[in-house]
Amino acid sequence: MSRTAIYPGSFDPLTYGHVSIIERGLRVFDEIIVGIAINVRKQPLFTVSERTELIERSFPGESRLKIDSFEGLLIDYANTRGSQVILRGLRAVSDFEYELQMANMNRKLDDTIETMFMMTEESHFYVSSGLVKEVARFGGSVQDQVPDHVEEALAEKFAANNA
Ligand SMILES: Nc1ncnc2c1ncn2[C@@H]1O[C@H](COP(=O)(O)OP(=O)(O)O)[C@@H](O)[C@H]1O
Ligand SMILES: [Mg+2]
Repeated sequence: MSRTAIYPGSFDPLTYGHVSIIERGLRVFDEIIVGIAINVRKQPLFTVSERTELIERSFPGESRLKIDSFEGLLIDYANTRGSQVILRGLRAVSDFEYELQMANMNRKLDDTIETMFMMTEESHFYVSSGLVKEVARFGGSVQDQVPDHVEEALAEKFAANNA
């Protein structure tokens, strides 16, 4: 039986923290579906297709990685994709409470789907898309936090926004 996990999130944009979870996830699961969440309350910097491309470029030729987007309940999306596992990363203690709430809510909605967590790598403890955007907006280097093509995309985006 093949094991598929959904890895949901904003990925606005992809960081090395995400890359690490995907790489490690691919060692545990046969297939990972990155589910880019279309969140009406969040105003993203990158469009879904831009975010998709930035992820694809980090995993060229990886046939076990699928990149998709979804709206609405994660549980419904997981069922649509035939996946029984939701994969999430955990960073600082500050992630814990929110993740616990969400995992419990999702279990209430559908207890056949399990949320599984992978701890961040030490070197990615402080890496977040939000912080990366704040630094890149003002021209700071985010070289250690994101792949080169993501850093370039950030520079282009902010150059265009400031023009
Ligand atoms: N540096 C990191 N180390 C480990 N996991 C991370 C890191 N950054 C993000 N993640 C995980 O990746 C997933 C998606 O994160 P993110 O793109 O911020 O979307 P969300 O809007 O759901 O927070 C979450 O499970 C988050 O905890
Ligand atoms: Mg987040």
